[in-house]
Amino acid sequence: MSRIGSIEVESLYDSRGRATVEATVALESGARSRAGAPSGASTSVHEVRAFPAGGVPEALATARAHVIPALIGVEATDQAAVDRVLHEVDGTRDFSRIGGNVATAISVATAMAVGEETHRPLWRVIARPGVDGHSFPAIVGNCMNDGVHAIGGPEIQEFIAYAEEKDPRRSVAAVVRVHGLIREAIHRRLPTIALGRGDEGGWVAPLSNEQALEILVEACAAARDELHVAVNPGIDLAASEFFEDGRYRYRDRSLDTDGQVAYVTELVDRYRLRFLEDPLDEGDFDGSAAVTRAVGAKTIVVGDDVYGTDIRRVQEGAAKGTSNAVLIKVNQVGTLTDTMTTVDFCRSHGLATVSSHRSGEVPEGWLAHVALGTGARALKCGVVGGERMAKLNELLRLRRALEG
Ligand code: PGA
Ligand code: ZN
Repeated sequence: MSRIGSIEVESLYDSRGRATVEATVALESGARSRAGAPSGASTSVHEVRAFPAGGVPEALATARAHVIPALIGVEATDQAAVDRVLHEVDGTRDFSRIGGNVATAISVATAMAVGEETHRPLWRVIARPGVDGHSFPAIVGNCMNDGVHAIGGPEIQEFIAYAEEKDPRRSVAAVVRVHGLIREAIHRRLPTIALGRGDEGGWVAPLSNEQALEILVEACAAARDELHVAVNPGIDLAASEFFEDGRYRYRDRSLDTDGQVAYVTELVDRYRLRFLEDPLDEGDFDGSAAVTRAVGAKTIVVGDDVYGTDIRRVQEGAAKGTSNAVLIKVNQVGTLTDTMTTVDFCRSHGLATVSSHRSGEVPEGWLAHVALGTGARALKCGVVGGERMAKLNELLRLRRALEG
């Protein structure tokens, strides 16, 4: 028996300087853990509300007045029961009363406290059937940014190094090297510009999509030669962010859906992209399915905004062949139980999962445990910056611990 004894919620800042929340859950046994919740900027219309209308102050007040009293005494090892209480107190479809970030912080901190009490790391507490910690995720490292995560770069939101080594030490070394090589390549090409980094740690420079892709492709090839690692280029278009009035609006062109499908397919072929996320608007199951049919045999096509980690949307996408992989963000649904419902559906329907950070992160490592425990194909968490490195370093620690 490990009942919840007390919960504290507090406000703190994410890596972008915006307010978010953390929760500290203590069990009656004395075991306690703390977890913070991240926040997105390129959010999906299909994800839960991170905070109620009154923001973090209202979230904290509601948690203290209604959520926490309802959770005291609930059996912590029964994650479904804990998460059910969160839904019951909230009473809405999208956590707009208590805030998905309060739910996320409490849900994750509860599982971590159970781990504390039973001397198990979080990944073992949440491990899906058949997951034994021997199979590590690939690394999706965001190396160049723009979209809503930066100002002054190409339209595509993320240019990615996708490292698929069995040993995470090799994958992490690969994405870190690609990130460093890109810095040098941008400096060579644009020696007089001031080079900056975006919200997720990727470089931001005044480049076109094609120029950025050329630099990415060359950096991946150089890292492959130098380190003998399997690392390939990829992109997250986050296409909803530049989809207006039925058209995809680039600086130099405006495309309808068929045009976008053709353009993205051509980019994948020309640059041999092996990771592709949100190629179409978040409402467009069929357009994304057309891209998946065209490139899915060789490329992992991932749905993020199109699903919002929501089981009903993922089920619809599975029926339509919208993608061959699903991005998993705990705070898009607000609880570990809802997350695992989506993960389990993916696992039993041949869809890969990618455990993902948000653009506004907390400097914590629990996402690495979610990736390992859910048997994710990949962990998407940026490359550099303390809040990104926290996840990669935690994965390396897990690798060391499992080595015995
Ligand atoms: P976010 O998006 O800004 O909502 O975290 C990141 C992504 O699109 O993958
Ligand atoms: Zn995305």
